[in-house]
Amino acid sequence: MKSGLVVKLIEAHSSGNEDAFKNAVNILADDEEKKGNSTTALLLRNAYIYKKNHSINLADSPISEMSFSTQSSIPMPKDKDSTLELLEILTPKVTLKDVALPEKTLSALEQIVSEQKSIELLMNKGIFPSNRLLFCGPPGCGKTLTANALAGELNIPVAYVKLDGLVSSYLGQTGTNIRKIFDFAKNKRIMLFLDEFDAIAKKRDDTNELGELKRVVTTLLQNMDSMPANVFLVAATNHHHLLDPAIWRRFNSSILLELPIPTQRQQMIEKFFYEKLPEYKIDIKTLVILTDGMSGAEIQSFIQALAKHCVMEGIKKNISQKQIAEIWLQQNTLFISENSEDFMKALYKLKKNGVSLRTLEEITSIPKSTLNYRFKKENLDDE
Ligand SMILES: Nc1ncnc2c1ncn2[C@@H]1O[C@H](COP(=O)(O)OP(=O)(O)O)[C@@H](O)[C@H]1O
Ligand SMILES: [Mg+2]
Repeated sequence: MKSGLVVKLIEAHSSGNEDAFKNAVNILADDEEKKGNSTTALLLRNAYIYKKNHSINLADSPISEMSFSTQSSIPMPKDKDSTLELLEILTPKVTLKDVALPEKTLSALEQIVSEQKSIELLMNKGIFPSNRLLFCGPPGCGKTLTANALAGELNIPVAYVKLDGLVSSYLGQTGTNIRKIFDFAKNKRIMLFLDEFDAIAKKRDDTNELGELKRVVTTLLQNMDSMPANVFLVAATNHHHLLDPAIWRRFNSSILLELPIPTQRQQMIEKFFYEKLPEYKIDIKTLVILTDGMSGAEIQSFIQALAKHCVMEGIKKNISQKQIAEIWLQQNTLFISENSEDFMKALYKLKKNGVSLRTLEEITSIPKSTLNYRFKKENLDDE
């Protein structure tokens, strides 16, 4: 540890100027970090938070002081070559009630929220709250939305970093950029949201990758290890099987957000439809069945198409089964030819869910007899 920095630290303490003292702690921790002593840096930062919590009452403690506005002395990190900003600061307006989730997932998230809310209480006892969370699952199933909802629950800003852009454009700079992002976050009470996380956290034995990616993963590991408790790290990936095992181990929990189950679909349909057209009546049960296999994002666009149709066609209050079937078919067969097996499968799904052959004939202009014949030919009728 540099003696000059330690002297400055003691001077700052003796002067009684809290800001100067905090600054000196950070300079000392930064210096240790630069030398590769991440653990020492972490201990220094957390010792400061710990000391503060013991010396003053909780409401006045440093983590609650760590608002974004009072900490904005550090400029927004930029890429050296492109001068583009590496992250975006967002203030989410959504909370967990805006996300449709299976009960088990919701209670796991509520547990994380309550730990994060008790951060000062836990730190006071020298206990670290969970602050590294990984979201996995297919696209459109609510990873970004849920991350925002967590920040909304905690009333903290989100530093949003989309990593695939960062890596593909400026490969040589990636490690430096990652360091800049973590440096920016470390003195703030903030969520650091790393989206498309697999872009930088891929397995290091991937033979197709350059040595650069290996260095990037190492940098990421170092930064995650030295990250202080006030930063809430949330990462999201559609390809969790690609992640490096060492990275996996750094997370306190990983949550899989899969295609929505019926209760989630019902919540989403009601929300997306009634927030636009509260005076209408729709057949929720049929819609829940027809949205089987769709992601949340697909359900949203289907329900929006349905609401648009109602308004454009001047439909008042009741939407017929035929109209629902028509919009559903459009949405689900966008790039499929009428002669294909998949088109028949889509029609058969409608039939199986109570849409009559006559209605299907009206929608598609394919005669009932032909439909019957083709269902048999594709062996669909045996199911
Ligand atoms: N579980 C969900 N509950 C409510 N809305 C959802 C859910 N999943 C997806 N959506 C809708 O789809 C949109 C896209 O979801 P997003 O969070 O961006 O998915 P991902 O990040 O997993 O690709 C959301 O903004 C929301 O409107
Ligand atoms: Mg996303």
